[in-house]
Amino acid sequence: MRISVIGCGYLGAVHAAAMASIGHEVVGIDVDERKVAALSAGRAPFFEPGLPEILAEGIASGRLTFTTDMAAASGARVHFVGVGTPQQKDGYAADLTYVNAAIDALLPHLSPGDVVAGKSTVPVGTAASLAPRVEATGATLVWNPEFLREGFAVQDTIDPDRLVVGVAGGEDAAGVLREVYAPAVAGGTPFIVTDLATAELVKVAANAFLATKISFINAMAEIAEVTGADVTQLADAIGHDVRIGRRFLGAGIGFGGGCLPKDIRAFSARAEELGRGESVAFLREVDEINLRRRDRAVQLVVDGLGGQVYEKRITVLGAAFKPHSDDIRDSPALDVAVRLHGLGARVTVTDPEALANAARVHPQLTYVHDRDEALTGADAVVLVTEWDEYRRQLSPSHAATLAAGRVVVDGRNALDPAAWRAAGWTYFGMGRP
Ligand code: UDX
Repeated sequence: MRISVIGCGYLGAVHAAAMASIGHEVVGIDVDERKVAALSAGRAPFFEPGLPEILAEGIASGRLTFTTDMAAASGARVHFVGVGTPQQKDGYAADLTYVNAAIDALLPHLSPGDVVAGKSTVPVGTAASLAPRVEATGATLVWNPEFLREGFAVQDTIDPDRLVVGVAGGEDAAGVLREVYAPAVAGGTPFIVTDLATAELVKVAANAFLATKISFINAMAEIAEVTGADVTQLADAIGHDVRIGRRFLGAGIGFGGGCLPKDIRAFSARAEELGRGESVAFLREVDEINLRRRDRAVQLVVDGLGGQVYEKRITVLGAAFKPHSDDIRDSPALDVAVRLHGLGARVTVTDPEALANAARVHPQLTYVHDRDEALTGADAVVLVTEWDEYRRQLSPSHAATLAAGRVVVDGRNALDPAAWRAAGWTYFGMGRP
């Protein structure tokens, strides 16, 4: 099928390449010339495992092209819209500027029978308000939210947990998407057809639930800290209950990234507009618990270094908001580094993938690519992104030969406290004795 993908960021670039890899003829369209040039040359503009391979394959096959010219959308049967919906500069609500601009630019190139499939995460009610403009061209608007996780985006797009399609009228348009996703559907992926509002809500509800789960365990970490309990054992124990499950019960410095934080805030803002602010008032608490954990990590470093960090050399392991990503949007890891720097510490940050992005936004920190070089002479070591390079491949005895001090703060509860203590370190975890 001929497909266009409007917006080639984390979502759109992966979607375009993944659609080509399952056999469609795809054009990715973005206003950013640099991004389009990189993608056209087969270079992923961000770190995403597996993306370079399917980009190269798609381009070589001739099925995948990228352009800044919206006219290239004409002739496609399905137009996916995957532009960003960031948090507004002066509030919690989502900024829909890019969605509106993408739809407006696309309208002149639509033909009757086309399907416009929104993938961006939008406040509930957005699709219904966009639908008349799309339908005036004879095309149909559906909402097909994306659930991909950065770091696993290719796999999550080609073989998702579920597919959700919100439609306004009949199910014809959903049938077209069923064809688009034929390999996944044939493989047994649940294909849920619903109305527009439900489809929009499924996405924000899923992210709100995940954020709540993380903040729940982080709240338990706060209680563990005043009782001497161990939150990781607590999580293991409650996680054995299949109704609860162990995943997303990783206590630490909390969630960040381009989705969870802004999505829960946009959800709160939208609920307020709908006169239902109280229904999701708990999301404010979820956000606050999350932000408090960054304070806690900073405090542990201060305590570990005897009450002040001024002029102390602190090595921060990680900058990305999570491993397998170079994304530093709302990264708790980088926030901890920036706060320590603000307290006068001499902060050195290392990360396998995210340093260039971090340096652009926070040039005041020192960045060292090589992990061992970064550790050399450190008074304290702070793990904030649980890359394998730090959690599995860094032996505490090796780290001890490099660092000057013996204080380690494990902001992700990713290290083995017994092993680090045995190597002479004073270990501080998050919600662990
Ligand atoms: C998330 C959703 O998982 C995905 O379905 C949605 O489409 C986009 O938002 P992503 O932002 O890629 O995906 O990251 P995710 O893996 O969900 O992690 C989010 C944050 O939570 C990270 O900062 C991570 O470190 C943190 N986290 C995750 C925890 O602190 N503890 C956990 O147990 C799990």
